Amino acid sequence: MRQTEGEPSPTIVIFGASGDLTRRKLVPALYSLYRKDRLPPDTRIVGFARRPWNHEDFRARLRAGVEEFASKSFDEKTWNPFAARISYARGNLNAPEDYGGLRSFLKELEDEPTNRLYYAATAPDFYTTIVEYLGSTGLASEDGGWRRIVVEKPFGSDLASAQELNRALHSVFDERQVYRIDHYLGKETAQNILFFRFVNTIFEPVWNRNYIDNVQITVAEDLRVDQRGSYFDSAGVLRDMFQNHLLQLLSLVAIEPPASFDPDTVRNEKVKIFAAIRPVALTDTVLAQYRGYREEERVAPDSKTPTYAALKLSVDNWRWQGVPFYLRSGKALAKKTSEIVIEFKRPPHLMFDLPEDYELTPNLLTLYIQPNEGIYLKFETKVPDSARETTSVDMEFRYGTSFKGVELPDAYERLLLDALHGDASLFTRSDGIELSWKLIDPILDASDTPDAPPLAFYDPGSWGPPEADEFVVRDGRTWWSGSDSGKDK
Ligand code: BG6
Repeated sequence: MRQTEGEPSPTIVIFGASGDLTRRKLVPALYSLYRKDRLPPDTRIVGFARRPWNHEDFRARLRAGVEEFASKSFDEKTWNPFAARISYARGNLNAPEDYGGLRSFLKELEDEPTNRLYYAATAPDFYTTIVEYLGSTGLASEDGGWRRIVVEKPFGSDLASAQELNRALHSVFDERQVYRIDHYLGKETAQNILFFRFVNTIFEPVWNRNYIDNVQITVAEDLRVDQRGSYFDSAGVLRDMFQNHLLQLLSLVAIEPPASFDPDTVRNEKVKIFAAIRPVALTDTVLAQYRGYREEERVAPDSKTPTYAALKLSVDNWRWQGVPFYLRSGKALAKKTSEIVIEFKRPPHLMFDLPEDYELTPNLLTLYIQPNEGIYLKFETKVPDSARETTSVDMEFRYGTSFKGVELPDAYERLLLDALHGDASLFTRSDGIELSWKLIDPILDASDTPDAPPLAFYDPGSWGPPEADEFVVRDGRTWWSGSDSGKDK
């Protein structure tokens, strides 16, 4: 489904073009692709928003964004021809006549036939309206070229709203035209999980309940909610991070080997995992809020919104029976790190006459998603010149060392390119989204009921509430990622 020679050049129409995402992520990613000569020839970019700007105003704003967020790659010489491909169409998302205006504008701009990628980079409340008007004004019809739509997260705020949004999308677009973004899937290191597992022979034989004791997925952020208080206070960490990013990472660790790398074959396997995850017990849930959160701008002073959560999940299938998946994520934690730790089982028999209470660190395989991208295997070795003392050492693969001078691309580069090429492997499908909401909804629904897990509190800059440590200790385990791994990162 890659773009073939002679295919019409595409237009990318960004709804919500005056917003932060366009300036911070989308246009810097498109500019970087342009510099690398990876954008299809003659790609046009059209911003649609309400601000009374002309093309030059819009370009100047985007240029400032690229200079700020992709400063290393900015240079005047490539910016100018890139900027010449950008135009601005003023319009109100709620006004059907403005979509008519957009249609005329595009007709003037484009050659016939043309391909078009719509990007919904607005607040989620507008998604349904955009889709409806794209349909009613004929902008979605594939006369002479493909039409695709990229929808940003959050995709719904619960199962019912996600289903409603899927229905709205499917009333205008076929599923094959819909690209739901989860930017974690575009991260180079997240993509590498499937490669690591399935282009090597030595890991897959031990990748199961016989050898793995538990899996830990940590996505920690040091940032507080900052300017996003209003969004975050209604969303909370479960909607913001778990329903999408953490569950997607889990699926990459847990899926069965797909028979091919075809988008639907891979996504079928992911859906099987989501369907196999047992409903999360509220007793397997820790919810917490950082101290000071209630004083953040646009956060309710009595807010009970969790900024941190830890969940224990079980995947009920042959491979993973009895292997807990511990997931945790939070704001205002000690540092920003996303990592997956696979803890292997202890050896069945130790012949070295070690004392009963001898502390043997288990074998740990850590996939560092960001920063310090890499893969580490921790194993035990004999301390030199001792009789039977052991210590942990690491085998390391670091992107920075193995791929010197290669800058890992931003996730949006991969995702935009794939959407332009019609490759949906790294995008979520409607059934996957709905199943993941089905897992998160019962925890959300329990809030304000007597069954709700009590809200714990933690200090900003810590690794979360003590309750989250007790949560794994009660299973006789410990968190390995973050500061507890004992690794100097
Ligand atoms: C977004 C969340 O999806 O992911 C943010 O809405 C979060 O709250 C961000 O900060 C984290 O992404 P990354 O790529 O910085 O780990």
